[in-house]
Amino acid sequence: MQHIRYTNFMNDLNEWWRGACIYQIYPRSFKDTNNTGIGDLKGVTEKLDYIASLGVDGIWITPFFTSPMKDFGYDVENFRDVDPMFGSIEDFHELLDNAHEKNLKVIIDLVFSHTSDQHPWFKEKPEYYVWADGCHVGNGVYGPPNNWVSLFGGSAWEWDEHRRKYYLHNFLKEQPDLNFHNPDVQKEVLDIVKFWLEFGVDGFRLDVVNFYFHDKLLRNNPPRDPELGAATQFEGEDPYSMQEHIYDKSQPENLDFIKKLRALMDQYDDRFTVGEIGDDHPFDRAAEYTEGHDYLNTCYNMHLLGGQKKHLTSDMIREPVETFSELKKGSWPSWAFSNHDVVRAASRWHWEGDGFSHEPKLSKMLIALLGCLRGTLFMYQGEELGLPEAKLKYEELKDPWGIHLWPEWQGRDGCRTPMPWLSAPNEESKGAWLPTPAQHYELSVETQDLDDNSILNFTRKFMSWRKTQKPLIKGNIKFINTGNGNILRFTRSYDGEPEIEALFNLSGEYQKFEELEPELEPYYFKITGFNL
Ligand code: BGC
Repeated sequence: MQHIRYTNFMNDLNEWWRGACIYQIYPRSFKDTNNTGIGDLKGVTEKLDYIASLGVDGIWITPFFTSPMKDFGYDVENFRDVDPMFGSIEDFHELLDNAHEKNLKVIIDLVFSHTSDQHPWFKEKPEYYVWADGCHVGNGVYGPPNNWVSLFGGSAWEWDEHRRKYYLHNFLKEQPDLNFHNPDVQKEVLDIVKFWLEFGVDGFRLDVVNFYFHDKLLRNNPPRDPELGAATQFEGEDPYSMQEHIYDKSQPENLDFIKKLRALMDQYDDRFTVGEIGDDHPFDRAAEYTEGHDYLNTCYNMHLLGGQKKHLTSDMIREPVETFSELKKGSWPSWAFSNHDVVRAASRWHWEGDGFSHEPKLSKMLIALLGCLRGTLFMYQGEELGLPEAKLKYEELKDPWGIHLWPEWQGRDGCRTPMPWLSAPNEESKGAWLPTPAQHYELSVETQDLDDNSILNFTRKFMSWRKTQKPLIKGNIKFINTGNGNILRFTRSYDGEPEIEALFNLSGEYQKFEELEPELEPYYFKITGFNL
């Protein structure tokens, strides 16, 4: 396939991350170079040309640190080393150098809200974690200190026989929560940040950045106002979604810590932070955490990620984008439609599908839509192929959250299946940790590379064109009423550059738009200046 070259002005602008598109890699499922059934860092290095061909500006790699993998790397045992499953620290050096040679930034994923229970701190420095006595709840029952619940099910407190106390975990019991009220914990964490800054990475995705602090008084969370909707991407009835999370996360002390983190970041050139926010009031939080120059560069939340099968409407896009820009004029948003925690957007937003199907036209439209939004953009591996969510059998599940909620929800494995590089199974895919659905082979990189009209080649053309369009990278966004909830229309404008107008039919049906004849086709889109 021929790669079209456009002038890239991104490097002439300060703050490279504004308007950048970052490709998210879930290394376990990206490219396995040694036939272990699990992808590795060498696999990422091997595929850097492919990634660069997508017209993206950098990569975010989910955790590859030493870990017992109870939550697939989000339970870290050693923050300064690579898990042997993924390779070695030398492999990461090589990856970083190669990525930089190709002009790709590298963002790593730092998980500080908790560690693995196998982290030496958990044994040697219990004061780094949150411990509390239980209480008598009546009828002779001795139970947890308060009503906090874990996102992954059950109480957020686990009894430790040895210490005769409970410890806090917002996720699995194997992920004890770090106690940020302890200044030594803050110092340790900042030392880890420094280690990676010195190493030369370009920035960090900060896992659940609003979970660092808990209420010191351990007050009970109140019942949830139903208006708030679900508290997680699982939209069913779930104890976590029955509380308003005002005491177990998003505490005011967090802002002071983030300030310290930013002061450290500012000692290095051009580095970047994006925080993941999981909160009942995500916009307020994001605005607080990114205001001015003292906090994070940007945050993203679950607004365009959450839920299961949905009918995409213009309000679903317009509301969060507009709310964010109006809330804090100086803040910079980030947007993602898919990631390793949610149902792939190609299926989630498929008008007529069963939650596991897809429509190539929709997938192309979603790439164009993401590329036109104002903010830093995250594209998840396989999104460029239009991969649908994989349907798995109970015996195939690996995600503890999915196993807990089956059959109401299969959890997160459906978006974590291996990247289909080839059009047919081979030795590598046969032994993989998760199966590859037949449909994914039809959408493989090998197949789509050869087809000029494929989603993959569309992504390449669109994203490389986008890089040359200042209004799309840095410009303002203004929505225009269309009088039809399925049609989204907005303009992007920047400093005297010709305005770009974008129009999308978000539905899988023909739609009437103004006086235009014929009606707009399903998933039709038009963007000023972009011609296929
Ligand atoms: C990560 C998840 C992880 C959780 C706990 C999240 O937001 O993206 O994959 O399970 O944090 O670390």
